[in-house]
Amino acid sequence: MIYDLIVIGGGPGGYLASERAGAAGLKTLCIEKANVGGVCLNEGCIPSKTLLHAAKILDYAKNAKKYGVSVENATLDHAAVIKRKEKVVRTLVAGVKAKLKQNNVELVNGSGVIKGRSENGFVVAVADQEYTGQRLLIATGSVPAIPPIPGMKEGLQSGFCITSKEVLDLERVPESLVVIGGGVIGLEMASYYRSAGSNVTVIEMLDHIAGNTDKDISDILMKEYEKKGIVFHLSAKVVKINQDSVEYEKDGKTESVKADKVLVSVGRKADTAALGAESIGLELNRGFVKTDRRMRTNVAGVYACGDVTGEMLLAHVAYRQAEVCINNILGKNDVMRYNAVPSVIYTNPEVAGIGETEKTAKDKGIDAEAVVLSMRYSGRYVAEVEQGNGICKLIVDKKNQRLIGVHMIGSYASEIIYGVAPMIECEMRLEDIKQIIFPHPTVSEIIREGIFEF
Ligand code: NAI
Repeated sequence: MIYDLIVIGGGPGGYLASERAGAAGLKTLCIEKANVGGVCLNEGCIPSKTLLHAAKILDYAKNAKKYGVSVENATLDHAAVIKRKEKVVRTLVAGVKAKLKQNNVELVNGSGVIKGRSENGFVVAVADQEYTGQRLLIATGSVPAIPPIPGMKEGLQSGFCITSKEVLDLERVPESLVVIGGGVIGLEMASYYRSAGSNVTVIEMLDHIAGNTDKDISDILMKEYEKKGIVFHLSAKVVKINQDSVEYEKDGKTESVKADKVLVSVGRKADTAALGAESIGLELNRGFVKTDRRMRTNVAGVYACGDVTGEMLLAHVAYRQAEVCINNILGKNDVMRYNAVPSVIYTNPEVAGIGETEKTAKDKGIDAEAVVLSMRYSGRYVAEVEQGNGICKLIVDKKNQRLIGVHMIGSYASEIIYGVAPMIECEMRLEDIKQIIFPHPTVSEIIREGIFEF
C-alpha cells in the first residue's frame, strides 16, 4: 500500500492535517506513538484548562460574599478535579478518533521512524512494519526542555522534579511547590496549585514573568498572583536541586527554598531525536524542522507543522500550519502568516494578546501609539468583577491609522481576543473598525471604547 500522505504525529497539527487530507480524498496514514490529540489534548491545553476552571470556580465561591452570595466552606477536591480532567480528555480523544475515521484516515499506533526513500516515496517504519508515502508530513511536536542543573536528573528520577505532564496527574496537592520558569506553563500551574492550597514559589531567570507579554500586563498579573500568596523570585537562576530543596542565585547570593515538588517549566524542545531525519537529509535547526512559509522543508515532498517547526509553540498555530501544508500539497496557494496570532494565559484573571506590543512595534521602527483603558470602562466588567483592575491596551500604527496590537488582562480576555484577529489580519483602518457593532453589555466593548480614543 502506497499512501498519498503519511503524517507522523497525531497532535493538533497532525490530526487536523490528516483530517483535511482525508477529506480532500488523499489516501492518508497518521502515525501516533501515544494517544491522538497529542500534548494539547492529553497533557497540555485541555487538561490544564480543566484544572484551571475548577480553580476559577473555587475563587468565585471564596469571593462570593462580595457579590451578595454566601458559600460556606468552599474547598477544592483535587482528586475529583483530576478524575473529571480524565473524563474530559477521554471524550475529546474519542472525538478526534471519530473524525479521523470519518475522513478515512488510517491510524497506526507506534513510533514512526523515517527510513529513507524507495522508488515509490518515503519509507516510514513503525516497529518492523514499513509504510510508504508519496509525501510526508512531520508533526511530532515538542517535549519539555530539561535544563542541565546539578541534581536535576536525580530529581526527575525520584519524582521530586516533575514536568508539565506529571503536574497534571499529581495524586495529591503538594504542600509546597517550587516552579522553575515563570512562563505560560509555570504560571498556569502555579495558579491552579495555589488555589488548590499549595505554597507556591516561582523562580524566574528574567526580571519579569510571562515572557513576551506586554510588561504592564505581566506586572498586573504578578500583583494578582502575589495577592493570592504566590511568591516570586525574579532575576533568579536555579543552580542546584537537592533532595528536598532548590538552590538559586539572586543578586550574587545563593538562596534555598524547600519544596515537596518542583515543576520544571523552562520551555520545550522539538521531538525529533528518534525521527530518522538524517535518512532523508532533512534540515533541522536546534532540533526543530526548518520550513518555509508554505510549511515545506528542504526535502521536496516533505512538510512539517506544529511545535516541531519551532515557530510559535501553540496548538492554534499548529492548526493553521496544518491547513497551509495540506493546501500546498493540493496545489492551492496558501502561505502561513504570524502577524495576528493570539496568545492567552488562562489564569484568573485571564491574559490575552495579539499583534505588536509597544516594544515590538518600536523594534520594527513602526511609529506606534498606545492607548490604555481600564476594563472598568465596560459596564459588564463592573457588574461582574468586584474591585477588578484589568486593563486593555491598544496599539495603533499612526501612519496607516491601523490597529496592530491588543493586549488585555481581565475576564473573558481569552474569548474576546480572536475578534481582534480579523481587524489586524485584514489591515482594517480605525474608521472601519469604528463602524462595527459590538453586543452590549459585554467586556468585548472595551475594544470599541479603545478605538474611539484614537
Ligand atoms: P516559556 O518559554 O513560556 O517559559 C519558560 C520560562 O522559563 C521563561 O520565562 C524563561 O526565562 C524561564 N527560564 C528558563 N530557564 C530557567 C532557569 N534555569 N531558571 C529559571 N527560569 C528559567 O515555556 P513554558 O512555560 O515551559 O511553555 C512551553 C510552551 O508551551 C510555550 O511556548 C507556550 O507557548 C506553550 N504553552 C502555551 C500555553 C497557552 O497558550 N496558554 C499554555 C502552556 C504552554
